[in-house]
Amino acid sequence: MATLNLQNITKSFGAAHVLHGIDLAIKDKEFIVFVGPSGCGKSTLLRIIAGLEAATAGQILIDGVDVSDAAPVDRGISMVFQSYALYPHLSIYENIAFPLRVQSLPETEVKAKVGKAAEILKLTDKLALKPGQLSGGQRQRVAIGRSIVRSPKIFLFDEPLSNLDAALRGDMRVELSQLHRELSATMVYVTHDQIEAMTMAHRIVVLNKGRIEQFGTPMELYHHPATKFVATFIGQPNMNLVQASVLGTTNGLTVEFSGGQRMTLPVDCTTATVGSLVDVGIRPENLMLGDGLSMTVRVVERLGGVAMTYGDMPDGTRICAALPGDTPVAEGAVVGLGLNVADAHVFDASGAVMRRLNAPTLVV
Ligand SMILES: Nc1ncnc2c1ncn2[C@@H]1O[C@H](COP(=O)(O)OP(=O)(O)O)[C@@H](O)[C@H]1O
Ligand SMILES: [Mg+2]
Repeated sequence: MATLNLQNITKSFGAAHVLHGIDLAIKDKEFIVFVGPSGCGKSTLLRIIAGLEAATAGQILIDGVDVSDAAPVDRGISMVFQSYALYPHLSIYENIAFPLRVQSLPETEVKAKVGKAAEILKLTDKLALKPGQLSGGQRQRVAIGRSIVRSPKIFLFDEPLSNLDAALRGDMRVELSQLHRELSATMVYVTHDQIEAMTMAHRIVVLNKGRIEQFGTPMELYHHPATKFVATFIGQPNMNLVQASVLGTTNGLTVEFSGGQRMTLPVDCTTATVGSLVDVGIRPENLMLGDGLSMTVRVVERLGGVAMTYGDMPDGTRICAALPGDTPVAEGAVVGLGLNVADAHVFDASGAVMRRLNAPTLVV
């Protein structure tokens, strides 16, 4: 059992204010991912949770107990870093056993714990080898094994897959999700990669410039991004943003695009004002050939099942449509793009969303 509560955590390095009042309630056994661009404060927040860095203000509670002033070893936490930090001269067995050596445990107990961790991580036949004889993915598993033997209440990971090639990262994502189920522990995982966040997290914390933009399940963030930042950060390729002016706010938001096209979008219009400018957000996968917006095709990337079609609207706005793989679009052609109005997101001038009224019901 390990809940983790952060209360109004702030952090400054001298005059640099890096975290601005982070509040977060993480449940027992949750897999939480902190995601955000480089420099937004993810590692700093994780290091504060681990006790490797002191917060400037605020409290950290583990299972309801304030550990803000506790030493790292007394928090029941273990952390896995991007750099595996293995001892090259020690065997895999001794690398995994390392934290237990510090505790001077009897050898039978060490053997049992290392054996169990190696089994979970599929390293049993590698225990006699040295780190230099393993692949990158296997080395990262050794680093995770060293965490597992400590039986921590909470596992922390800081970009553990960033040094691996793309195919291996995909495999490791699946393995980490499986590991989480087997260990049924609370995990906090930091990454700048929204695909890792979407695929592994129960709930995602989107950080931007030291603030939480949104905290929710992957599909909540996908269907109901609260801000333009989250909307364009989550989902690949990025959501398109097309400027439009507001013509009406009764029975939906009626907008006009610069090319003169009009649409009525089913969103909450409480904060909308006629005459103001909004950004209409449309995911590439929600566009199809049809009447609506006009695009001059610049590049078509045929990925097989999907033809990523990039182009420009008449006013120069860049737009991307994920069309079926065999769609006969040619570079240089002018095509019409249609959409189901229920799929459109709308952001006001401050970047806040006007909530969609007909978004899919969430089942996860
Ligand atoms: N020890 C430090 N001294 C001064 N500034 C730091 C220190 N550690 C991190 N920072 C700054 O804090 C900000 C957030 O850093 P970090 O938490 O590492 O971001 P992320 O992990 O999201 O890329 C950055 O602007 C970084 O330069
Ligand atoms: Mg970092």
